[in-house]
Amino acid sequence: MPRGRTTWLGGLHAGVVFATLLASGCTAQRTPTASRQNPEPTASDANLARPQPSPPGIFFLTEKQLPEVPFVTTPETVVAEMLRMADVKKDDVLYDLGCGDGRIVVTAAREFGTRGVGIDVNPERIKESTERAREAGVSDRVKFVEEDIFAADLREASVVTMYLLPDVNLRLRPKLLSELKPGTRIVSHNYGMGDWKPEKVRQVRSPRGTHTIFYWVVPGERDNE
Ligand SMILES: C[S@@+](CC[C@H](N)C(=O)[O-])C[C@H]1O[C@@H](n2cnc3c(N)ncnc32)[C@H](O)[C@@H]1O
Repeated sequence: MPRGRTTWLGGLHAGVVFATLLASGCTAQRTPTASRQNPEPTASDANLARPQPSPPGIFFLTEKQLPEVPFVTTPETVVAEMLRMADVKKDDVLYDLGCGDGRIVVTAAREFGTRGVGIDVNPERIKESTERAREAGVSDRVKFVEEDIFAADLREASVVTMYLLPDVNLRLRPKLLSELKPGTRIVSHNYGMGDWKPEKVRQVRSPRGTHTIFYWVVPGERDNE
């Protein structure tokens, strides 16, 4: 199927993964956008691209825009705890895999002076992230790249953050272990990595409920630091 072609199958897949994200612990609200108080995205804001009008209940996506995981933000309190757990510092290079609106990369740059790279397959997310960085005055320290995380070069990272899905984490694990430098810290919102035991696990409350944060360090010999 040619790249970029609109696909019903894409819509079906996106609907299924979004339902999985919600059912497996991501507690996005279901209140209608117009009446809700909390600005967090909801199920109805799945931000799945709709290049043309679609019948109710059916998403149309181009294959290029078809995400592995739909867009749901990490609440700011959870972002703060993720950065604390990873002990993020000025000399770190933080990669957020599936960066959404860029909040993790931008918060790290703003609070700690960290350089950061956000990667997202959805061009809308890249636009939002770039705008967020501009508003926060950190555009000189961060960049946002429209790319598939499985194809991205992660070797520069010293910290990796992610909020994906359990099966995506598992598929990503060999790439993380082979590509990241020993000593690189990985923090994941809500989902683990199978039998790779985390070094730390913490729970954080937000208005959306309880969130679990997992922390690993890539094993192996470190270069002289
Ligand atoms: C649950 S959101 C997390 C957003 C942000 N990291 C946060 O924690 O607020 C997942 C993001 O991953 C992106 N995504 C899903 N699959 C991807 C892939 N294969 N490559 C790049 N980005 C992807 C989606 O577009 C979405 O913005």
